[in-house]
Amino acid sequence: MNKSSSIRNHLYDAATLPFSQACENNQQPILDVLQQELQDATHVLEVGSGTGQHSVYFAPRLTHLYWQTSDVFANHVIINAWHAAHPAPNLYAPLSFNVSSDSVPINKTINAPYDAVFTANTLHIMSWFLVSKLFELVGNMLPLEGKFIVYGPFNENGRYSSDSNRQFDYSLRQRDSNSGVRALEDIIEMAEKQHLLLINRYKMPANNEILVFQKKVDMP
Ligand SMILES: C[S@@+](CC[C@H](N)C(=O)[O-])C[C@H]1O[C@@H](n2cnc3c(N)ncnc32)[C@H](O)[C@@H]1O
Repeated sequence: MNKSSSIRNHLYDAATLPFSQACENNQQPILDVLQQELQDATHVLEVGSGTGQHSVYFAPRLTHLYWQTSDVFANHVIINAWHAAHPAPNLYAPLSFNVSSDSVPINKTINAPYDAVFTANTLHIMSWFLVSKLFELVGNMLPLEGKFIVYGPFNENGRYSSDSNRQFDYSLRQRDSNSGVRALEDIIEMAEKQHLLLINRYKMPANNEILVFQKKVDMP
């Protein structure tokens, strides 16, 4: 059995769920921003849900909207296990979504288009080509005024936001030369090509940030 099939076949219970301390630490500060930015949202797509740990914290605290998880298929067993341990009526099982695909997946049981997209800690993992693809897909799919909310570390003015982010970037690039902490200026320029305008920035703990983009017709 190869590694990925052994992960898929593993049955988790609440005691053996893969746990991320980073998620535990950042979930409340992220939620504080989401409660502010998603007041008018009804249906959110999370891209790269990872373990699903974030989703089980956010969904029951954002009861006015549907929270749709997604990730590459290999992560679905873990996400489903987190959902089974912490169910919420507005939390939806992961859709299979690799951003290399041509469209954003939909959940046909929810009769509402997405009006927001959230992603955490994914832009530094994906290649720049896939980051651009994600912004293109989200820009095409969102309605006007729809928001794309991105959490993670970013460089600005050619500088790392901390020594730990410099080391993090180095370790990412050692593992995969296509990965790496992205420059805020590059992200903004690429987002604007997709009619996604940066409307808000939030400084977050551990030298991370939340960037909030909104789809506009007329860009400045
Ligand atoms: C560092 S994890 C972050 C997980 C979670 N969002 C968090 O903050 O803990 C990066 C996530 O991006 C996902 N990912 C990487 N490449 C992807 C791709 N091409 N399409 C969709 N998801 C991808 C991975 O499967 C993984 O869940």
